[in-house]
Amino acid sequence: MSKRYLVTSGLPYSNGRLHVGHIAGAYLPADIFVRYQRARGHEVCFVCGSDDNGVSIEIKALSEGRTPQEVSSHYHDSQRRSFEGLRIAFDVYGGTHQPGFVERHERMSQAFFLKIYEQGYFTKRSVKQLYDPRAERFLPDSYVRGTCHHPDCGSPRAKGDQCEQCGRLIDPLLLINPVSEITGERAVVRETTHWYLRLADFEKRLAEWLESKRDSWRSHVLNFALGQIKQGLPERAMTRDIAWGIPVPLEDPEARGKVLFVWFDAPIGYVSFTAALCARRDGDENGWKRWWCDPDSEIVHFIGEDNTVFHTLIWPAMLMAEATISLPSAVVANNFVNYRDPASGEIRKISKSTTPEQSPVWVEEYVRKGLDPDALRYYLTAIAPESARSAFDPQDFVARNNNELVAALGNFVNRTLAFVDRYFERRVPDPAAAGAAESELRARGVAALERVGAHIEGHRYRAAQDELMAFARDCNLYFGQREPWRTRKDALPQCAATLHACIHAVRVLAVLCAPFMPGAAQRLLHQLGVTDDLRWALPEPLPAGHALGEPQILFAKLEPGCMGDVA
Ligand code: 2FM
Ligand code: ZN
Repeated sequence: MSKRYLVTSGLPYSNGRLHVGHIAGAYLPADIFVRYQRARGHEVCFVCGSDDNGVSIEIKALSEGRTPQEVSSHYHDSQRRSFEGLRIAFDVYGGTHQPGFVERHERMSQAFFLKIYEQGYFTKRSVKQLYDPRAERFLPDSYVRGTCHHPDCGSPRAKGDQCEQCGRLIDPLLLINPVSEITGERAVVRETTHWYLRLADFEKRLAEWLESKRDSWRSHVLNFALGQIKQGLPERAMTRDIAWGIPVPLEDPEARGKVLFVWFDAPIGYVSFTAALCARRDGDENGWKRWWCDPDSEIVHFIGEDNTVFHTLIWPAMLMAEATISLPSAVVANNFVNYRDPASGEIRKISKSTTPEQSPVWVEEYVRKGLDPDALRYYLTAIAPESARSAFDPQDFVARNNNELVAALGNFVNRTLAFVDRYFERRVPDPAAAGAAESELRARGVAALERVGAHIEGHRYRAAQDELMAFARDCNLYFGQREPWRTRKDALPQCAATLHACIHAVRVLAVLCAPFMPGAAQRLLHQLGVTDDLRWALPEPLPAGHALGEPQILFAKLEPGCMGDVA
């Protein structure tokens, strides 16, 4: 029976370039899931876009002397190109402040806020906050520095949210000699008003909902969320004193000049971008409800680990308050990917300040160098940070490309197609002499389809890809054991049956590869001379005599140094 999936990837802030860690976290696994579910015949809508509002974009603009709109549209375009370059294929790539999306997004976010307001889940509260008198603005915690207030630390460079020296949380109002990071001016305390969402009102329902996911979600994600509920959920301000964002839609004079908290409007972007897509594509203003409000549609969010609290607690609480949009079926959270420096062997966070600008760990650079998107997709799935952080090791990237993609998968395909090219005039040989070994290889293909599929459905992408490679190795083994170079001379019908089975295995490999390495899957079809739709099922064997395409190298060998991997 055909199902419906609404799949989202966390909206990246449009204030920087994407790196391999972003891709491995929220985008590549989602793209694999989407391609797989489509191959199964299910209906899927894959939604993403840029997170353009909020203080991080505003501050970036301030530091570059540009407007937030300029900054966000610049990075929106750069990020969109990066996704395209890696064949991450959203149905819609919106932006919370991008033309074609911003008006609808603002309207829907304000309506969402008002609905929660009318249900009485906000508390209006007056609070003290640090203020920069020169910039004439309130300061987000991360834009203040001062002396750490923990008496046994006293670091002079503690940030307003956390002290980098002792690692503990900072109460910005207790910071000693707080200084604004924007102007360098001494920060002062001022009173302001905000609207707080009372998360405690949802604790019981959230806990019950999370418990119902016990058997299907990653346990560390579930335990983290349940642990937070156990500690008690604090109320969270859903408004901010900044100029860049969506105006708070209240008549109250104290709401004047305030905007919605970026984490309030960002997840609504998932919905408003779907609405924009349905309106544009189907001319249906209400089409989004088929994806978001219908119990037959499953909603799956893919995110990086730092977004867990928002997607497992705050967004679901917002949805419970809003009451018409469905809760997600799954929240798939991945950990961060660090970088192993080939020179020092040190493992570090990927960041603008420590990772060279030209390094291909920046997706834009990788794509610009013309490196194969499939090679990166393969490696990032092989090191997928599904339950712990992992590290991108440029030397390992090159080694795995050469030893696994080239020497196992590519080699099997190439030795099969080159053999048929040479000895069977590039036509599918006759399988009449097929026996037990051929049936076994075919059964192995069926098992691979089942196993890979089950792993993808369980969001175990690393294991899924391992199964695909295990099948490729079995194929190589079969080729070696059947010795077609020998049977060609003394048992031609058997040789023909061997190659027929190998060609069929190549066709199965195209199906298996398609979610992970869509480019390779297309190259395989081309070489097989077919135009399969790559449905997730055992393909029909090609008839004897079918004309194959020209054999080509499936994956290029990478030279040491191409990833900045030479120390
Ligand atoms: O962490 C981030 O990059 C956020 N911009 C993610 C937002 S996800 C969603 F809720 F939109
Ligand atoms: Zn400290």
